[in-house]
Amino acid sequence: MFAALLFAIAVDARIDQLLSKMTLEEKLVQLTEVTEEQLPSIPAGVLLSSGGAAHINEIQRNRKIPLLVGYDVIHGYRTIFPIPLAIASSWDPQLAELSARVAGQEARAAGVRWTYAPMVDIARDARWGRIAEGAGEDPVLGSAMAAAYVRGFQTSILACAKHYAAYGAAEAGRDYNTVETSERTLREVYLPPFHAAVDAGVATLMSAFESLNGVPATANRHLLDDILRREWKFKGFVVSDWDAVAELINHGVAANKHEAAIKAITAGVDVDMWDNSYATLRDGGVPEPVIDRAVQRVLRMKLRAGLFDQPLTDEKPSPPLNRDAARRVAQQSIVLLKNENDLLPLPKSGKKIAVVGPLADSKKDMLGPWSAEGKGEEAVTPLEAIPHVPLADADIIVAILGESREMSGEAASRTSIDLPDDQEKLLESLIATGKPVILVVMSGRPLAISWAAEHVPAIVQAWFLGTESGNAIADVLFGDVNPSAKLPVTFPRSTGQVPIYYNHLPTGRPPNPEDKYTSKYLDVPIGPLYPFGFGLSYTKFDYSDIRVDGFKVSANVRNAGNRAGEEIVQMYIGDPVASVSRPVKELKGFQRVSLQPNETKRVTFTIKRHDLEFWSDRGWTAEPGEFKVWIGPSSATGLEGKFELR
Ligand code: BGC
Repeated sequence: MFAALLFAIAVDARIDQLLSKMTLEEKLVQLTEVTEEQLPSIPAGVLLSSGGAAHINEIQRNRKIPLLVGYDVIHGYRTIFPIPLAIASSWDPQLAELSARVAGQEARAAGVRWTYAPMVDIARDARWGRIAEGAGEDPVLGSAMAAAYVRGFQTSILACAKHYAAYGAAEAGRDYNTVETSERTLREVYLPPFHAAVDAGVATLMSAFESLNGVPATANRHLLDDILRREWKFKGFVVSDWDAVAELINHGVAANKHEAAIKAITAGVDVDMWDNSYATLRDGGVPEPVIDRAVQRVLRMKLRAGLFDQPLTDEKPSPPLNRDAARRVAQQSIVLLKNENDLLPLPKSGKKIAVVGPLADSKKDMLGPWSAEGKGEEAVTPLEAIPHVPLADADIIVAILGESREMSGEAASRTSIDLPDDQEKLLESLIATGKPVILVVMSGRPLAISWAAEHVPAIVQAWFLGTESGNAIADVLFGDVNPSAKLPVTFPRSTGQVPIYYNHLPTGRPPNPEDKYTSKYLDVPIGPLYPFGFGLSYTKFDYSDIRVDGFKVSANVRNAGNRAGEEIVQMYIGDPVASVSRPVKELKGFQRVSLQPNETKRVTFTIKRHDLEFWSDRGWTAEPGEFKVWIGPSSATGLEGKFELR
């Protein structure tokens, strides 16, 4: 403790000494981030670059203050891991941490010291293509993943929690679009993963593009100052998103770059990415202490990144790909959605298998959006991993369908989340052969696969799994791995149902198929196609004997099948009567249990006070009364208990 304090004092002294020798122009340089193309013409302290040790060393040599080099290392640098939405399906923060640790090490070896990850935006609308980059719809799962990524990356490079905040709530799922949300929903749904990242020690945050309740996030004092710095005591720096400072002009809150720069830095955005607006502050408009404060934050993180002590990177040949780790994470990210008559796992011999579909052998698509320095040619496809025969000769068909990698990620919103092109027709024709069909869906978002859910006997949701895609899919299809992943996001029946999420508020007229005047649609059945938290295994798990004892709730989980397996046991809480409407249920805990056939384990959760709180005008509040609690395999089913808060 004392040593840490001394260290902090020494760091502050070093920063103040640097600062005291800097001119205003030099200070603004530290707050300016550019790309490599811009670097020759715009003086900058921060660089967006894909790295390369020798190349970065060349740039760093003879600089008084080294550049902080940042890059989008989202789910891998050279070795590409599953997309974050896939990793969230593992419900295993340790795997998220592992993937970030490997990615960070590879990036660091290439001279990159900072990543624009993790993206911790909660997303309830699958039209929004960036749902691929986050952990899905739930704040508790999202917070666990956010903290894990931060820990993993920050073993070697600085992390950046983005996009602060509520960027995923874009109206109509259209990227960069307006967000309107209540303070309660902001606090309960969108902010918790950011808070978790801050508590995990994240070095930086990125401000979001959108306007939030009329105030652009990049000029939003409430977010950047009241909450982030005053409430959460965040000590790192905030970078704007690309061009977001200048875009304050388009938002209609600034007349020119100078006004935009004043608004952004005053609200608490320290570094201006790409648009070079902060250079205009040399003409005044902001008290110098405001600029000094931002510079101090940047210098502190440069020190933390080790840049002053070790500005250069060892120039070593790049290490081999970390395929083992990528395969392990990918195996745990695959969700089994349907398995009629135990069609899966496939026998390893005796059956001839055809592997078809536009994604069966598309190497580049395996990597998914944001694949940094990953190379498509190094990725393994399902066609390569599964011994196969031509369609005419086959006993069983494995159809690999879904989206190309460009269809999700940034600026990839869709008004229809159906299988693209005429893939459903292809599927219909495969079913018409009368041969058993296994559908493997690759996508960066939940797709509306109602037809498939009705007609295809086995469905596997594979997302984009990265470098080891094909091997991991084969591991699951042939039963070398018993799938345990669960959906981190609700699967709608049709696009018209989105936004759809499990932790919604009750309505005055709950859906009732017998009563027209209740909350539902005329043209699709009530509820999702597959609920949040859902996922099958090659074995079966029985839940029994829920007990509530004070603030401990427990239940038995038994492996009732004949294979060893792992189950992600989920605990939900509901507050049926409160002074405000509360969500019908909310995830508050989850645990992975490993069970041999016939083995039973008692799984116990401890309910914390914060699990019972909601955001009110008085801050976080828990009201006395009766609560419901569920322990179960998904958000849709489970054993129910109750308890009282006095
Ligand atoms: C994206 C960010 C990304 C940045 C830098 C922006 O367009 O919104 O997520 O980190 O570009 O590449």
